[in-house]
Amino acid sequence: MRIGVLTSGGDCPGLNAVIRSVVHRAVVDHGDEVIGFHDGWKGLLEADYRKLDLDAVAGILARGGTILGSSRVQPAHLVDGVERAKGHVAELGLDAIIPIGGEGTLKAANLLAQAGLPIVGVPKTIDNDIASTDVTFGFDTAVGVATEALDRLKTTAESHQRVLIVEVMGRHTGWIALHSGMAAGAHAIVVPERPFDIEELTKRVGARFEAGKRFAIVVVAEGAKPREGSMDFDEGGKDVYGHERFAGVARQLSVELEERLGKEARPVILGHVQRGGTPTAYDRVLATRFGWHAVEAAHRGEFGMMTALRGTDITMVPLAQAVETLKTVPQDRYEEAETVL
Ligand code: F6P
Repeated sequence: MRIGVLTSGGDCPGLNAVIRSVVHRAVVDHGDEVIGFHDGWKGLLEADYRKLDLDAVAGILARGGTILGSSRVQPAHLVDGVERAKGHVAELGLDAIIPIGGEGTLKAANLLAQAGLPIVGVPKTIDNDIASTDVTFGFDTAVGVATEALDRLKTTAESHQRVLIVEVMGRHTGWIALHSGMAAGAHAIVVPERPFDIEELTKRVGARFEAGKRFAIVVVAEGAKPREGSMDFDEGGKDVYGHERFAGVARQLSVELEERLGKEARPVILGHVQRGGTPTAYDRVLATRFGWHAVEAAHRGEFGMMTALRGTDITMVPLAQAVETLKTVPQDRYEEAETVL
């Protein structure tokens, strides 16, 4: 078999572990040939690739980022994108393509699968918002980074009797905010799924100071917004790829909370530090299992499917189903967290 692999969209710790696993399973166990496209779909659209053998993937298991590079380019961005992709797959004699990516990448994968290309998707995102899989690799690493940051921020917040509003990633969902906030014992968690009421938030944070505490930590997902009419708010806009370019919820909240509470408040934006660096053991294992199962699915001819974690098992789910909706933080998970804040 000849297999093409690519990594597309925002990077995420664990991508290299998938690539390595695909190459090992395909080359060693099946005698396949693997090529890696550069910079995501762009590499497929421009037939820009290199051969991936065991040497090419040696020593990359623990490395963050992606040895193949990534971009936000998608076949749908070009008028002839789908035809171009089809042409290159035929020219290169590919029997399977394994795109590793998040929401946007998997939508593109589904589009190409519907157009008849032999696609097996692998989900990734630190946001953990892909439906049909219990977890995506990268999430555990990101939560670890955010939790460590929150732990560290507590000591400086306490020294200065401040409110620190810590913005974590999560465009549409608040999984990183929820988990890091619970793990670090934050005092309020604000997620996009539940527009916040500034008065309620002020009351919650203020109650801590009234109870004699010296500081407060609020974790907020970057995509969180206030309840309609709750406070003036700049939502930002969109970038050239249609992605949200946020105006900074932590910055806006810090101004508002400082004025309302009469306490010094500071925004802390963790940003891309959450996506960088070495993946945790959990993410390496999940990524490795996804890569292994993607190759197996390709050999079974199970195309238009995506690897998924269900409980402790890896299963295959239709791409079309996986991209229908995002996995959001359910109300009961939020309530569990609220009790212990
Ligand atoms: O989709 C993953 C994600 O980490 C989002 O939480 C975040 O909004 C986005 O990527 C940032 O992407 P970029 O690297 O394009 O700024």
